[in-house]
Amino acid sequence: MSVNETFSPTIVAFCCNWCSYAGADLSGTNRLQYPANVKIIRIPCSCRLNPMFILRAFQRGADGVILCGCHPGDCHYTTGNYYARRRMTLLFSMLDFLGIEEERTRVEWVSAAEGAKFAATMNEFVATITKLGPNRRLEDLRCRKE
Ligand code: FES
Repeated sequence: MSVNETFSPTIVAFCCNWCSYAGADLSGTNRLQYPANVKIIRIPCSCRLNPMFILRAFQRGADGVILCGCHPGDCHYTTGNYYARRRMTLLFSMLDFLGIEEERTRVEWVSAAEGAKFAATMNEFVATITKLGPNRRLEDLRCRKE
C-alpha cells in the first residue's frame, strides 16, 4: 500500500466573510459534500490574509492552503481582493523559491451564490493534495500530531 492511499491531507481554507464563507455555507445548506479535512478560517476580506498566515499554516502541518474571496470587482471593501491577488502572486514566487510545489497553494474566487463551485473546488483541491502527498518543506517537527 502506498503512502498516498492512507494519506488524508490537512487543508486550510481562508474564506472571506462576504462571499466565500457564504458560498461554503450555501454548499452545506444544499447538502453538497466536500471533505471534512478542509478547515475553514473566516477572514473579513481576502486582503486580510497576511502571507505569513500561509507560511505559518505550512509550518503547523497544513498540506495545502487555499484562499477564497469575492470575484474581482465584487469585494465588499471595493479593492481588497486586488491587493490580495497581488500579494498572492508575490507569495507564489517565494514559495516556488522555497521549493514548495505550486499546487499546494491556490486562490479561488467564489461568490455567495456559488455553493456548488465551493464544494467542487474543495473536492478537486483535496484530490490534488492527496496525489502530491504530505508537505514536508516548511513543517515544524514540534507541531507534528503523532
Ligand atoms: Fe470578499 Fe473582500 S470582502 S474579497
